Amino acid sequence: MAHGFPSGFLWGSATAAAQVEGAAHEEGKEDSIWDVFARVPGAVAGGDTPEVAVDHYHRMPQDVALMKDLGLGAYRFSTSWARIKPGDRGVNRQGLAFYDRLVDELLEAGILPWLTLYHWDLPQSLQRDGGWANRDTAYRFREYAAVVHDALGDRVTHWTTFNEPLCSSLIAYAAGEHAPGLRDPHAALAAVHHQHLAHGLALKALRELGAEKVGITLNMTNAIPNIASDPVDVEAARRIDALANRMYIEPVLLSRYPADLLEDVRDYGLAELIQDGDLQLIGGRIDFLGVNYYHDDNVSGHPLPSGAHPNLEPTPRPKSSPFVGSEYVTFPRRNLPRTAMDWEVNPEGLRTLLVRLGREYPNLPPLYVTENGGAYNGDKVDEDGRVRDPDRTAYILQHLQAVADAVAEGADVRGYFLWSFLDNFEWAWGFQKRFGIVHVDFDTQARTVKDSGLAYSKLIRNGTPFTATELSSS
Ligand code: FCB
Repeated sequence: MAHGFPSGFLWGSATAAAQVEGAAHEEGKEDSIWDVFARVPGAVAGGDTPEVAVDHYHRMPQDVALMKDLGLGAYRFSTSWARIKPGDRGVNRQGLAFYDRLVDELLEAGILPWLTLYHWDLPQSLQRDGGWANRDTAYRFREYAAVVHDALGDRVTHWTTFNEPLCSSLIAYAAGEHAPGLRDPHAALAAVHHQHLAHGLALKALRELGAEKVGITLNMTNAIPNIASDPVDVEAARRIDALANRMYIEPVLLSRYPADLLEDVRDYGLAELIQDGDLQLIGGRIDFLGVNYYHDDNVSGHPLPSGAHPNLEPTPRPKSSPFVGSEYVTFPRRNLPRTAMDWEVNPEGLRTLLVRLGREYPNLPPLYVTENGGAYNGDKVDEDGRVRDPDRTAYILQHLQAVADAVAEGADVRGYFLWSFLDNFEWAWGFQKRFGIVHVDFDTQARTVKDSGLAYSKLIRNGTPFTATELSSS
């Protein structure tokens, strides 16, 4: 172990197709639900769309060259289903060819391609038939997974089925904050179960096709009772833990939904959707678990005192779904710094999470932090060509320290993917929130490595990051 990280630790960065590619209607790509959602007035801040995004589709070779310059060991990207196998049409070879070129480019640069099959951009043609509320979509996903494996399986070794199913189910179908923007609790739970099923079906298919490593990425939180000795807060935190964490990890690792969760949502038909054999498929062995971590949830079961901050977390959280109406759960603010997303900065939470997962789930596979990073306002290219982003730099280094601490406490963490490689289309926030370690001028598409990118790069290369002082004096 060097510098607190195990040898062979994977140093990566991540993006997602709809957030970076653009070329939304080129070379046979059809609408995804995000193209359609972005056309709904008021759905995306500033009326922004993924139409051009950051033009990665056309600038891919230069982007990969930049990754190589920074010394990245792995790049986590997603494939766009609507580009590869839209609707009932056959396979779109031209669309698939983009990923073929991307994988080759990465391998040539010595960067491991880490592929995610679903990062939220369902083909709109499947949404017309109910999207994830329709069980058939799970079988379509299996077909799509096989098509992608057929094209790239000779070179791609690491396969992730889903990214953050919490967001593409509850937040998308119950809270209405992500595409397709529904507020239908029954459909939301159907989306949960059918995405799990799709994961299980694809996992089995990929294994049969010879995929080397298959896993899933979940976004996880520590749900902390606001007052540990208050049973009302403890109960509220239990509900959030069930909805945000255990509804996802337990079917995958333990082939069952938590009993308390089934009781919490009993009026919304989840149990009735489970068919014989589903849970066995869903609980098929995985080779790694991807954990995306941004912040914890400080949870109370009491109404907020009048005049308190309304705690309008701009990010969709399950609290806005009918399962956790404000009559059950509130999120009092703690005295912690916040990012531009208004998310708490609490690296300690990442350490706690990584350590406790291993303790709570004895059959936990190796962990990878597949997303972590910070949005901050005020990034700009200075006259000397630098982008000074000390807050993001500090965020990253503190969270990496938390990973190292977790490893020292026994967590089996094998890699870290910084979110994000490029500034990009941040879903319902459009282009207003920048997470990149590479600055993108959204008018010219010019790329400039930020100070945080330089610090990360030095950490990867030398095991020690640039300190804030070094950066400001260089
Ligand atoms: C995660 C998403 C990713 C990005 C970050 C900020 O929930 O997986 O696409 O939006 O948040």
